[in-house]
Amino acid sequence: MSDLKADIQARFGFEPPLDVNAELAQSDLPPGAAAALSNILARRSYRRFTDQPVSEALRTTLLACAQSAPAKSDLQQYSILDLRDPAKKAALAELCDTAWMADAPVLLVFCGDLRRAQKVCEMRGHPHAQNTQDSFMNAAVDAALAMQAMIISAEAAGLGCCCISQVRKRLPEVAALLNLPDGVFPIAGLAAGWPDEARDVTRRLPPSIVVHRDAYDDGGLAAEIDQYDQTRHAARPLGNQINPEKFGTAAFYGWSENAARRLAEPSDLGGLREFLESRGFELA
Ligand SMILES: Cc1cc2nc3c(=O)[nH]c(=O)nc-3n(C[C@H](O)[C@H](O)[C@H](O)COP(=O)(O)O)c2cc1C
Repeated sequence: MSDLKADIQARFGFEPPLDVNAELAQSDLPPGAAAALSNILARRSYRRFTDQPVSEALRTTLLACAQSAPAKSDLQQYSILDLRDPAKKAALAELCDTAWMADAPVLLVFCGDLRRAQKVCEMRGHPHAQNTQDSFMNAAVDAALAMQAMIISAEAAGLGCCCISQVRKRLPEVAALLNLPDGVFPIAGLAAGWPDEARDVTRRLPPSIVVHRDAYDDGGLAAEIDQYDQTRHAARPLGNQINPEKFGTAAFYGWSENAARRLAEPSDLGGLREFLESRGFELA
């Protein structure tokens, strides 16, 4: 029996304002819906997997689920690289500086893809007039939605997953390894397999500062972030502080200090604009 109220409490550290269990029991949720919602509420990322393979039948089904995601104007401007060759997986893991991904039974790279639509225009004798920032955004969103559909489906089947933005760390080398042509850019990798580690639910920011009713309002932000830092720290303190040599050792090290330190330095995933421009993206 699913307890969505408990799941929401575990996610945020406080009870939802409504007794969702009682209220939803009165409504007409179809059979299986509460279990599906509970699964999403309790999700977490996994980075260590057993050796048990993921069957071709399950892989095929999950990839079909990924392709069932909505896509802007039905243009489906993304591609998914399904890495099977252990040597290639190892080479990608090395480029990403992320050793554990090589051992994932399923390793995918989700890519935005303007090339296919450009070719379709060519095939049908029309110009391709949408190589813009908006096209880039559409392709990135399509790819992200397909990745999220894959994650939710894989987790429903009992697999664990973790996204890997590190595939953007060395873009030209990753593109060469995966034979990515012009018009195709990786947004993230996705490792999946049967979990072989215990992970906690990560507390999320309170809905009061993420969900804005009718109009954006972050008037209460500072106090709510302080509160979030405290409740999250009480549940699971963060481990190592980022760069204490530069920033000092904080007596209290909450989520916001960690986030701010992370954002205080340029990301090691730079070089996206140069990569895109070298790959035929006009970003006009
Ligand atoms: C787009 C994206 C990229 C990510 N890249 C990485 C990554 O490169 N390495 C990693 O260990 N985790 C990565 N993650 C996982 C996040 O760290 C994780 O989702 C976050 O810490 C929250 O934890 P949870 O998923 O268990 O709730 C990524 C997540 C997203 C959505």
